[in-house]
Amino acid sequence: MAVNLKNSEEIDQMRIAGRLAAEVLDFITPHVKPGVTTGELDRLCHDYMVNVQQTIPAPLNYTPPGYTPYPKSICTSVNHVVCHGVPGEKKLRGGDVINIDITVIKNGFHGDTSRMFCVGQPSIQARRLVDLTYECMWRGIRAVRPGNTLGDIGHAIQVHAEQNGCSVVREFCGHGIGRNFHEEPQILHYGRPGMGMRLEAGMIFTVEPMINAGKPDIRQMADGWTIVTKDHSLSAQWEHTVLVTENGYEVLTVSAGTPAPPA
Ligand code: MF3
Ligand code: CO
Ligand code: CO
Repeated sequence: MAVNLKNSEEIDQMRIAGRLAAEVLDFITPHVKPGVTTGELDRLCHDYMVNVQQTIPAPLNYTPPGYTPYPKSICTSVNHVVCHGVPGEKKLRGGDVINIDITVIKNGFHGDTSRMFCVGQPSIQARRLVDLTYECMWRGIRAVRPGNTLGDIGHAIQVHAEQNGCSVVREFCGHGIGRNFHEEPQILHYGRPGMGMRLEAGMIFTVEPMINAGKPDIRQMADGWTIVTKDHSLSAQWEHTVLVTENGYEVLTVSAGTPAPPA
């Protein structure tokens, strides 16, 4: 049950891995257009990671307990897909929203980040959910400082989602990250102020809320990976990898194309 605090050499390596993961999202951005398949996005990212960055795509063959090996190098979650969408023959169409989730390994260290993309012109509701979810992630990140608790992060996210008529997915959470893709602690995206583990400088974890426009319930598809909303409502997610610093936080998954934080 131990959380591993990172030393300054490990933090330097995590800055590198985090930047590289974000740079894959920068690279793929111009390709996210009507007509492209999610399989093509996967191949483009895979080749960029392996051949240009010389990073390892962490999802490929990733096999948590109880799962079959993940068959692709990225996750592509379209519309009512909550997370872990498996790239394939599906063509993107105008009005779709898609989360692309990238995890790279560089020098043994993981960087994990995802962004939402609107394909063509989004509906008002889709734009609103994507923006709300971005604000939720940032409200969680802004609760990161030594002395605060994990519950403070989750609470900040949950209140903002629910005040805006949306719901927080409970079954998946953020996670510690480092030499392992997923390590302790779990970062729930809901909670109560002051509850849970206290944050300490040197912790590194992801904040990656999944917010549904409808009910929070989810279902797993027959492929064993893809998670969808039970009511087929739209779902959105954003993810950063964050370091707890002496005064607050440092976002590690930053690149030239990282969207600006909300006001
Ligand atoms: N990148 C996801 C996360 O944020 C995990 C994906 S696991 C995979 O934790 F196997 F589906 F890639
Ligand atoms: Co993650
Ligand atoms: Co991720």
